[in-house]
Amino acid sequence: MDAAIPPPPVLNSASNKADRAIPMPHTPVDALTEDQAREELDRLSAELARHDALYYADAAPEISDADYDDLKRRALDIETRFPALSSPVSPSQRVGAPVSSQFAEVRHGVPMLSLDNAFDDGEVRDFVARIARFLKLPGDEPVAFVAEPKIDGLSASLRYEKGVLVQGATRGDGKTGEDVTANLRTLDSIPQTLTGSGWPDVIEIRGEVYAPNAAFDAFNAAAEAEGKRTYANPRNFAAGSLRQKDPKITAQRPLTFFAYAWGETSAPFADTQHGALEAFRAWGFQVNDRSARVEGAEGLIGVYQSLEADRSRLGYDIDGVVYKVDRLDWQQRLGFIARSPRWAIAHKFPAQQATTVLEGIDIQVGRTGSLTPVARLHPVTVGGVVVRNATLHNEDEIARKDVRIGDTVVLQRAGDVIPQIVGVVETLRPDDAVPYVFPTTCPVCGSEAVREGDEVKRRCTGGLICDAQIVERLKHFVSRRAFDIEGLGEKQLIAFHARGWIKEPADIFRLARDEEKLTLLRAEDGYGETSVRNLIAGIDARRVISLDRLIFGLGVREIGEQTSLVLSRAFGNWTAFREACMAAANGLAGDDWKALAATHAISTRVLGLMAEATPPADDPWPEAPMDQKIALAFPGMAAPARRSLAEISDGWSDLTRWAAVARDEGPSDILNQIAGVSGVGPVAAEALAHFFHEPHNLQVVDALLAELERVEDVAAPTTDSPVAGKTVVFTGSLERFTRDEAKARAESLGAKVSGSVSKKTDYVVAGPGAGSKLKDAEKHGVTVLTEDEWLALIS
Ligand code: IVH
Repeated sequence: MDAAIPPPPVLNSASNKADRAIPMPHTPVDALTEDQAREELDRLSAELARHDALYYADAAPEISDADYDDLKRRALDIETRFPALSSPVSPSQRVGAPVSSQFAEVRHGVPMLSLDNAFDDGEVRDFVARIARFLKLPGDEPVAFVAEPKIDGLSASLRYEKGVLVQGATRGDGKTGEDVTANLRTLDSIPQTLTGSGWPDVIEIRGEVYAPNAAFDAFNAAAEAEGKRTYANPRNFAAGSLRQKDPKITAQRPLTFFAYAWGETSAPFADTQHGALEAFRAWGFQVNDRSARVEGAEGLIGVYQSLEADRSRLGYDIDGVVYKVDRLDWQQRLGFIARSPRWAIAHKFPAQQATTVLEGIDIQVGRTGSLTPVARLHPVTVGGVVVRNATLHNEDEIARKDVRIGDTVVLQRAGDVIPQIVGVVETLRPDDAVPYVFPTTCPVCGSEAVREGDEVKRRCTGGLICDAQIVERLKHFVSRRAFDIEGLGEKQLIAFHARGWIKEPADIFRLARDEEKLTLLRAEDGYGETSVRNLIAGIDARRVISLDRLIFGLGVREIGEQTSLVLSRAFGNWTAFREACMAAANGLAGDDWKALAATHAISTRVLGLMAEATPPADDPWPEAPMDQKIALAFPGMAAPARRSLAEISDGWSDLTRWAAVARDEGPSDILNQIAGVSGVGPVAAEALAHFFHEPHNLQVVDALLAELERVEDVAAPTTDSPVAGKTVVFTGSLERFTRDEAKARAESLGAKVSGSVSKKTDYVVAGPGAGSKLKDAEKHGVTVLTEDEWLALIS
């Protein structure tokens, strides 16, 4: 798959607010005159130098990596086309920023160079071909490489003399770095003395200092809670942490180090890159376990694809894959071009971060009334896709990031997920930008929007009257995994709702037999005879529906597709399900009971003991202290529960009241029974009970049922099937069935279908192109089946 390169931006000049780093239309390099090229190269050089300084010296970049890469790429393209314009200070000659004066300087005996980049498979093949040509290898001699994840941190060089760490330095400008020995010593993954044997008397180990994602998130959350400085991403955090004046602060930061290269050595210690990595591991370093030795361009591309697929699960950020010729004698022969080795290249992932301007914030109202803020953005290319919107999650998130309309924001697209706004470039904030005020009324129906309890979502309280909620509920109802009504999509729903024809699911089925409205459709909406017939057929086809789709289609909060399925299996038919929900609705716990249950030390056991107790109506011992009264009222209650109860009780009458609450106001058994269905749980059970508690919902449900011809019962999974109770993972592109089909079939046979492989997995069914899950299966010793083997097993 070739990565699309986003169009390089052109910036006007230095750093005032008008010069936001937003890609703008520009002249292709091929069309520039030499004079134009010179002018633009000057401008780009200055801009890059400024960003280098912001990035390396201040650890406070103003633009994303993607935008930086775009600038650099364009500068290099210009230099390639007009070699005469190159100078010792032009972008192609620079590796980083000069060191700041804070730390002592360290001259790197062997320079710390950077890598040339490849952005697509073609450039990787060129790289491999170039090497074969350079080495004059016979056509069929394969070149072996080591492909390593390109860790998105900052590189460091560690000097060991006689196995003892004597100095640690940052890269700096590649020739001179900063002495951060004391700080580097605080990293657990950096040995103070080398273990094992075979290390040269002098060796400089090089690698990447980085912060694992989870640790970075935890740090930011804690810093946020304490009102301290947070960081935009793990790399800035790692850089900022390593360059602390006080090593004690660095020591508290969760930094880690991967070894992958070396500088000066007093003696050779390996013949291959891969042997060198093995040696590092033996000497006590962490070496990345996804580094792999492969042959030829296709081998490299294979590693790239698998790392790209697993990227979000690695636990640390990578921004590409580094390919290095494995044989060190060949590395030696290949040597260096000005700024980077000829024997290595970085194959970058498509740009996944970019900066752009936040033009507005739209509030979307969901099916359950939740208000979701969506960023309206100046269109920008991220990872080859034009992005115009990004989620801002909720009001707390906007406040936490202090995102304001007019701000330049850093946008991120991780895999297939909705783009996220990761931060704001505060230096580019317009003077008149004001903090965003989240609406407290629904933008669609005007009802009050409130936050319940500790929920982060603000919700519109206009439930039944809110058009947004009505349409969202209907959209959900007809969606593919619910009623899946062909010919009735969002567009038609909105139109029919606007005409006042459809408010609730039953209306859809009524429409199909409403000759008057169907005539109007033909006359006024330009529906042809065939479209009308198809619409009716699409609707009528769903008058027979399976129980799980029906439950899911109701759109009850917390009841997703999976929960609907387990519920339908547990109850088997609609009548039993409805009855259980009604009973649960009538048996919802009262508020007093909830308060009591939430009291410290009042456990389920204590609640049971209180429900059983029958304290007399009159205080048998008025002078006794509260604790004694409680012991009298509830024999057997332990001291911590007695103390808690004393705090919420004023006298004997309160105790008799609590006894009644415990006895009468607890959740009904049926609610507990629903909650006890595996895969359901108390939150979903309570949501169902609340839904059926609401008379209007019952009306809507019963009206729908009146329109349906039949609800198909769901057979409980066969327990004597060979896969009953087994956990199965499907991976790769399946050819014999669709993923949904395979999953449904397995589940109907009593198997549990999971998305990830662990040692608890029983079978991995792998189709062509299976990648990391297959590897995981091997790692955990899980049985791997082809699709045919799976079919043979279950039929
Ligand atoms: S090798 C002479 N290997 O990428 C070759 N670099 O763009 C030196 N990086 O400065 C670098 N992971 O900070 C190499 N497995 C890896 C790497 C890696 C991350 C960084 C490193 C380097 C930059 C080059």
